[in-house]
Parts: sequence; C-alpha cells; structure tokens
Amino acid sequence: MHIDDSHKFATRAIHAGQTPDPSTGAIMTPIYQTSTFVQKSPGKIIGEYDYSRAANPTRAALEANLANLEGAKHGLCFASGVAATGAVLHLLSAGDRVLLGDDVYGGTNRLFHRVFAQLGIETTLVDMTDLDAVRAAMDERVKLVWLETPTNPTLKITDIQAVGEITKANGAILAVDNTFATPYLQNPLALGAISCATRRPSTSAGIPTPSAARC
Ligand SMILES: Cc1ncc(COP(=O)(O)O)c(C=O)c1O
Repeated sequence: MHIDDSHKFATRAIHAGQTPDPSTGAIMTPIYQTSTFVQKSPGKIIGEYDYSRAANPTRAALEANLANLEGAKHGLCFASGVAATGAVLHLLSAGDRVLLGDDVYGGTNRLFHRVFAQLGIETTLVDMTDLDAVRAAMDERVKLVWLETPTNPTLKITDIQAVGEITKANGAILAVDNTFATPYLQNPLALGAISCATRRPSTSAGIPTPSAARC
C-alpha cells in the first residue's frame, strides 16, 4: 500500500514500510530467521542483504515503519533503547562535551557518566526546562544535547524547539528520547531535533524485544 501525507497515524502505523514480500507475495512481512543470505560468490550479494547483523528484511520493514511515524527519512532499530543510545554516543570523540537533561532514565545517566566518561567524553547535567541554563552551559566543545520530554521519572516538560535553536546555533546535535510521548503525541524531528529515540515493546512482526529507533 502506498503511504503518503494524506494517511493518518493509525493507517501509517499498520501499513508504512510494509510491502508484499518479493519472494512469495506474502502480504505481511515474514520473519526472516536467518543470519546469512546466499551470495553468488564471496562478496557478490544477490539482493540487498548479506548478513542480518547489518540488515534483515524484517527489521528493515520495522525501521521503515518507525521512520515514517517519526517523520524521518531513515530509521535504525536496535535490540534495546540503551543500545540505540550507545550507538549515538559513538558519534562523539574524546574531548567532546554533552549536555544531558538532569532528569533522564537512570540507564541513560549511567551510560554517559560511567561508560562514555571513561572514553574522555564529558557530560554536564542541565535542567532543560531552563533555557538560560542551557545557553550558559554551551561552549564550543558541546557536540550533543540529549533530553527527554516528558522526562523519566518526574515528567518534566522541555520546549524542544527552543533547545533545538540554541543547539543548532552552537553547531551541536539535539537528540530527543521520545519514549514517553511517542510519535503519536510528539514529533521531535519536526521541532529541530536531528535525532530521536523511541522505545516501545514492539509487537510488530512478532518481534518480542523492545525496539529502539534512531532517526
Ligand atoms: C526514557 C527511557 N529511555 C530509554 C530507556 C532504555 O530502554 P531499554 O530498556 O529498551 O534499553 C528507558 C527504559 O525504561 C526509558 O524509560
């Protein structure tokens, strides 16, 4: 089914990214339980896929679906939200600074402070609801601003667009963990964030683990 802007959220949630399976015509995307895909000869792949760690048609359908819901061009799924967060943090280098919301999921806080701190990435906690505090904490070493809104656990609300403008003016990336609001209620990408994370217990295509999208 062709999905465009005239389709509303419920239709997009079901149909976006879903095309009949090219090998059988199956309407619902099959679960491809394979790690490798046959090659004509070593290094000469037949279609788009060679190894499921890099890409798999079932995951590609989920990624396309979540990207559509987030209003993104691309989506990447990981086995957990923390894995997605870690992937974004690998964009940084030693000496970079991060401004992190002062009320974020505990696992996120620990990842920044205990794991990536050891790699020379410095994290400063900021109350993202206080725009003057965000401005004051900025400097040329800040490469990433990471926030949740509503926050977990105290449900603080941040003006994504305003923080996005401050972040952009300083040449940094704004990442919004959109877990609580979901793209049904909030679209960080439309508000100036260039990255957003969602986590939800995914039942799509029977995938049993939580999934995370990075758009
Ligand atoms: C706001 C938020 N972000 C990220 C995560 C991490 O997700 P996961 O448990 O899939 O690693 C959680 C987990 O509860 C969360 O509440």
